[in-house]
Amino acid sequence: MAGGKGALLLCIAIVLLAIGNGGAEARKQGKQSLGFYELRRGEFSMVVTSWGATILAVRIPDKNGHIGDVVLGYKDIGSYVNDTTYFGALVGRVANRIAGGRFTIRDRPYHTFRNDGNNTLHGGHRGFNQVFWSVRERVTGEFPHITFSYRSYDGEQGFPGALDVLVTYKIDGDFSYSVTMYARPLDKPTPVNLAQHTYWNLRGHGNGTVLGHAVQIFASAVTPVGGGLIPSGAVTPVAGTPFDFRAPAAPGARIAEVEGGYDINFVLDGAADGQGVRKVAVVSEPDSGRVMELWGDQPGLQFYTGNFLKGDVGKGGAVYAKHGGMCLETQDYPDAVHEPGFPREVYRPGQEYKHYMLYKFSLKK
Ligand SMILES: *[C@@H]1O[C@H](CO)[C@@H](O)[C@H](O)[C@H]1NC(C)=O
Ligand SMILES: *[C@@H]1O[C@H](CO)[C@@H](O)[C@H](O)[C@H]1NC(C)=O
Ligand SMILES: *[C@@H]1O[C@H](CO)[C@@H](O)[C@H](O)[C@H]1NC(C)=O
Repeated sequence: MAGGKGALLLCIAIVLLAIGNGGAEARKQGKQSLGFYELRRGEFSMVVTSWGATILAVRIPDKNGHIGDVVLGYKDIGSYVNDTTYFGALVGRVANRIAGGRFTIRDRPYHTFRNDGNNTLHGGHRGFNQVFWSVRERVTGEFPHITFSYRSYDGEQGFPGALDVLVTYKIDGDFSYSVTMYARPLDKPTPVNLAQHTYWNLRGHGNGTVLGHAVQIFASAVTPVGGGLIPSGAVTPVAGTPFDFRAPAAPGARIAEVEGGYDINFVLDGAADGQGVRKVAVVSEPDSGRVMELWGDQPGLQFYTGNFLKGDVGKGGAVYAKHGGMCLETQDYPDAVHEPGFPREVYRPGQEYKHYMLYKFSLKK
């Protein structure tokens, strides 16, 4: 990705050609342009891009010292344009689904772009993963970090009001990084729910499925979904169901009992008691010895086992089969804009949306 200058120029040409009018609009806004940024600390490194504030690579050693890239992604930026897998993307303005692509705020109806049957998914056809972000700040050194900013305009994909959004990727320590998301409505109340949509495979991307990983999710309930993967509004306990990951379990063990594979919001323990940043999930993979802890401050975690992957060709010609990666997206509950029983999702001018995630990697020999 960070290859020669020629490759970079080719990438830029592909993006500008591919996005047509959207590209013209992005260029008009000024500072936004395509850039690739590596953050590195010792043997740990990650690569991010201003296209969609996307994570392109995360490299860590396995128990034998072999460094591998453990996130799925495409071989060039052109492949991210119109992408519907959301590899590594920062999704918004509202992650997950909005039933019917409509909602009302203070009796005013809004219609958002329907890109998933009758529903809006991940902010519509041109969500935050399909725009250029600007680099607000870049700091190199011991704890390198980068902050991307994006100003979403009033009516973008149908959402109300302008919204300023920031995301910071930061290497916080040895083998750990954080994602800090922030948003601020400028002139109208609007729903906001951002999520980081990286697909993980701790064996290394393209190296088999994640069905044999050990997954632990600190959640005692889920929000079951009906048609179109829209929550029914119920909150049901995981005990005695294939959704019980309170003790480490392989997703493959009971996935056959889950129609379509896992793609559901877990109600994380501790949020209701006002606990802030807490451990929300641990994933480990026995052969590589890699372990990933995820900490966060959100009420929900969408757990998705790459059910729609179907031999997509990725970085270095890797082939991503069904279940070739898993997403662990902390966020608000899906379709919260229609469910008074779910935590609040609408923010008014003067209020701030904040979302923090921390990943810690280690090795189990
Ligand atoms: C992306 O979608 C736009 C609009 O639908 C289309 O014009 C363009 O050709 C597509 N680009 C790619 C790379 O598929
Ligand atoms: C969309 O809604 C219409 C009207 O309710 C329905 O007939 C149609 O089947 C729905 N489409 C999908 C893809 O769900
Ligand atoms: C796949 O993962 C296994 C287990 O860690 C490892 O031995 C093997 O080298 C990996 N293969 C590739 C191509 O990365």
